[in-house]
Amino acid sequence: MDTQRDRRKRWLFHVVYWAFILVGYGFMAYVVRQHDTASLPWLAMVAFFVFLLLADSRLGESQVSGGRVMSSKSIVLSSIALFGAAPALVMEAISALVRGFVFRHTTPRKALFNSAMLGTAAGAAGLTYEALPWSDAFAGPAFFAPLAVAMLVHSLVNHVMLVTIISLDAQVPIERVYQRGFSWSRLRSLLDLPFAGLVVLLYMQAGAWTLLLVLFPMLALYQSDRLYQRNKEAHINSIAALTTALEADEPYTHGHSYRVAKYAVEIGKSLGMTEPELETLEYGGLLHDIGKIAITNEIICKPGRLTDAEFEVMKTHPTIGADIVEQIRFLSEATDLVRHHHERPDGRGYPNGLANGEISLGCHILNVCDAFDAMTSDRPYRKALTVEQAMEELVRFKGTQFHTEVVDCMLQLYHRGEFDSLRDMRLQPTPLVMPPTASSEETVHTGAS
Ligand SMILES: [Fe+2]
Ligand SMILES: [Fe+2]
Repeated sequence: MDTQRDRRKRWLFHVVYWAFILVGYGFMAYVVRQHDTASLPWLAMVAFFVFLLLADSRLGESQVSGGRVMSSKSIVLSSIALFGAAPALVMEAISALVRGFVFRHTTPRKALFNSAMLGTAAGAAGLTYEALPWSDAFAGPAFFAPLAVAMLVHSLVNHVMLVTIISLDAQVPIERVYQRGFSWSRLRSLLDLPFAGLVVLLYMQAGAWTLLLVLFPMLALYQSDRLYQRNKEAHINSIAALTTALEADEPYTHGHSYRVAKYAVEIGKSLGMTEPELETLEYGGLLHDIGKIAITNEIICKPGRLTDAEFEVMKTHPTIGADIVEQIRFLSEATDLVRHHHERPDGRGYPNGLANGEISLGCHILNVCDAFDAMTSDRPYRKALTVEQAMEELVRFKGTQFHTEVVDCMLQLYHRGEFDSLRDMRLQPTPLVMPPTASSEETVHTGAS
């Protein structure tokens, strides 16, 4: 019964997914046909397009803020003001395809969807801009008013399409996806408006070569961002090395934290977590058991059930771990995840016995992934369960020991063949932290493959 309903929901997801692509490309074709493209300054537009690609490439990514050194949206907005809706949407749609195929190596379907979504957003923003007064009043700041409205329309179309698809893909209500996806850091995108205005004014004054002037501060930001990122990685790797050393002692848990982090990020992505949240979740997964360094090997490596007294000692590891992580500036956001990864929805977890509503989604995810990896690993006193058996256990205890939505999400990913069990990685050396793959917060990266 459940699988039949799941299949129907999957079918709905695919219908909406392809409808968005078809309607998006249809709308773009309509806008292009409505516009006269004969008298456009092609050379200047090529310069803008190259700049758009640069903003979409690694050069534009910022690990510091989890966003971008320079947003491609500001280039699209300035293209709308200078060249019109049609050229802006074509540039945006092609740039999204290049980003998907060349920069991010996503599946063709995701690249097509992102291209249709961003092209539609640019087209709708462009038509809005052209319909408003002052859209050619470049002598003063008046054109900022229609540009601001165009920016809002771009964000609105982008978010509505994205949130709908994530909601259908993860089978989570739209308002929940939106609540989770919202963060105040998104207000950073308001900076796109003055930046777009600056590019427009420079171009109007002196032509397309002025883009080079904008390129230099962008390069400087990129350099300082890379330095910061290296510094951060060095810090995190030294902490993760402790976890690896801890697990190396015990063949049964070798690579456990790495696998928990990987599983958690897969589920977090599917549940629509933002890029900064996924990064924190990855660090939380890598470090969740770091507190075990303070617990004796007799307890950690004990081949059998722990006594009550030993279990009380074991229960201190989340608090000890959280105290360690809290002191490291780059990792302090993962403190909550480390402290509460053994809390349960029914309030019978530790260390604080928090109830369902008091536990963050990230902690619920780590709790499920931690249990899944433990069940699918050999232990001195029992053989590893198969993936199917472990999933059955998760279902049996969902709602009490494990968060229902997280377990359902893991099951869906597994049934769709998108959940990579890392059981065969058990005997390989554990790689340390890899830099998270930042992706634009405005494109789809769910399981729509
Ligand atoms: Fe733990
Ligand atoms: Fe663990």
